[in-house]
Amino acid sequence: MQTQRMWNGARAAAAVGFAVAVALNATSGQAQATRTVWDGVYTTAQAERGAKNINACTVCHGENLRGGAGAPAIAGNDFLFGWNAKTAGELFTYIRQEMPPGQAGAFSEEEYAEILAAMLRASEFPASETAELKPADLAGITILREKP
Ligand code: HEC
Repeated sequence: MQTQRMWNGARAAAAVGFAVAVALNATSGQAQATRTVWDGVYTTAQAERGAKNINACTVCHGENLRGGAGAPAIAGNDFLFGWNAKTAGELFTYIRQEMPPGQAGAFSEEEYAEILAAMLRASEFPASETAELKPADLAGITILREKP
């Protein structure tokens, strides 16, 4: 029951978010639909580039990003539970401002986007053939633990 209520709450929040996104798009005149991480929002090539820098993260978060000594998982179910219904933009901001600890901002915006692509791949979200993850688009991409 509790879970059901939370789920309804999340759906209501998502509905509000969608309404806001539609309103914003109406004002800016851009036909930009709200997407989720299930829609293919990064490319395999981009995730591969991110994988080259991901040892800056795996050193704490574990080889497959499923958690390491003293650091939580940053891929997979447990991680996604905490970030469900938030946007990829919020996650991106967190990573850029906090990670790696004491070295925040160690990478360029583009490199952090590649790292995020590698994280999404590690969580087994589908890749796109063509659509790379772009920092400007991240606020319009919702993280959903389960496929809608
Ligand atoms: C020195 C160890 C260390 C390194 C290196 C590191 N992290 Fe972390 N990370 C942590 C710890 C510890 C936490 C938990 C912080 C907290 O709860 O306040 C964390 C939290 C996170 C979270 C939030 C997890 C959640 O469940 O909300 C994300 C996302 C994250 N790290 C991503 C990264 C990425 C991406 C990199 C590489 C660029 C990285 N981290 C490098 C130690 C590290």
